[in-house]
Amino acid sequence: MKILIIGAGGREHAIGKKLVDSPLVEAVYCAPGNPGMKKDGIQPVAIADTDHEALILFAREKCISWTFVGPEIPLLNGIVDDFVAADLKIFGPTKRAALIEGSKSFAKQLMRECQIPTAESQTFDDYEMAIAYIREKGAPIVVKADGLAAGKGVVVAMTIGEAIQAAKDMLKSHRFGESGNQIVVEEFLAGEEFSLLAFVRGTEVYPMVISQDHKRAYDLDKGPNTGGMGAYSPVPQISQGMVDEAIEMILKPAAQGMVEQGRSFTGILYAGLIATVDGPKVIEFNARFGDPETQVVLPRLVNDFAQVIDDLLGNRSIELEWSQDEFHVGVVVAAEGYPATYETEMMLPDFSDEPHVQVYYAGVAEKEGRLVGNGGRVYLVEAKAETLEQAQKLIYEVLERKDTTKTFYRHDIGNKALEAVEGKVLSKR
Ligand code: AMP
Ligand code: GLY
Repeated sequence: MKILIIGAGGREHAIGKKLVDSPLVEAVYCAPGNPGMKKDGIQPVAIADTDHEALILFAREKCISWTFVGPEIPLLNGIVDDFVAADLKIFGPTKRAALIEGSKSFAKQLMRECQIPTAESQTFDDYEMAIAYIREKGAPIVVKADGLAAGKGVVVAMTIGEAIQAAKDMLKSHRFGESGNQIVVEEFLAGEEFSLLAFVRGTEVYPMVISQDHKRAYDLDKGPNTGGMGAYSPVPQISQGMVDEAIEMILKPAAQGMVEQGRSFTGILYAGLIATVDGPKVIEFNARFGDPETQVVLPRLVNDFAQVIDDLLGNRSIELEWSQDEFHVGVVVAAEGYPATYETEMMLPDFSDEPHVQVYYAGVAEKEGRLVGNGGRVYLVEAKAETLEQAQKLIYEVLERKDTTKTFYRHDIGNKALEAVEGKVLSKR
């Protein structure tokens, strides 16, 4: 098989590596990709992910067996619809189905109709009505831009003043452009967060193992929200009962609901969940793999990943197997300043002499044959070990040895699992 991946980040690097590892796969291309991927045999292709016409031409010329879409923007731009219209195989949801990620108010409506547990909420385009609702509900309260905002359009407000400011930034100052012309104001959910992803084909749901992302920029969940600063899998403090409940009460009804609405979803469905005392509740749906969750979840897949996608595309049934006896941890190294204006062009360390970690590249460019920073999240260092502590140690010892000038990373990825003490563990469900 020859495969084309759409996207450029660490998630796409992890998807590509898993495909390169398959004996069924002859070549893996990634458009636009990044130069860091080349170390794992993935070939970057200089075509933008918005240029569907050029991508279709490329897929035809190279006799690509099928294309895998990483990020949400091409999905919402209808890349799957365009490839299908050109009679090319592609894995991902159509534009209509990707709306589950593209509009938070649509997702909320779906959840209401399918009785999927989520935070109580209301949608507003009127500022005065939004602040009246915020005042009525009180703080803490969460204000979200309706459309895409790269994980940054959410304000968890601890005071009414903060919530009103957020509503003003979005509805009046248009801080997120059109994405914030409508906002969702929702109840604050207390509990631990986890990410549950699944391969979905219409009403069929094949869940993956769970992981936990770290959205805040700095240690101890301080600082602004980012696209994600690190992840680990498994998440032992979230019980299998909680996960099973999420599969039955959230993923399956969501897939079913999408089919009933004429928006049948095929692709990766991602549920961002909070383990509350009343069971799992949804804080977001995404129509794709998570970044950095993929970098710690996909390595646990025992099946041949290329075979799994090929079977899903070929309407054959699949049975997934996941490694159970190892912990995977991934620490994002970001450019100083991220998620605001950040440093670029810093020289990146060489990891080729570090056999115990895997590096997934994201915001990088090539300069005189060396990799330099060229994005907010620059790369992720991943390791696996028998225990979470051992995996953390492998990563942090490597990072301490390297020159990480003009970049930063969190030092506490995975600590929530270590801190979860008996009694606090949500294992009784
Ligand atoms: P999102 O982009 O929807 O994943 O939101 C970003 C972050 O805000 C999440 O990872 C959570 O930490 C937090 N968050 C979102 N919605 C809620 C909620 N209803 N209650 C508590 N925290 C939330
Ligand atoms: N890690 C969060 C996301 O991919 O949306």
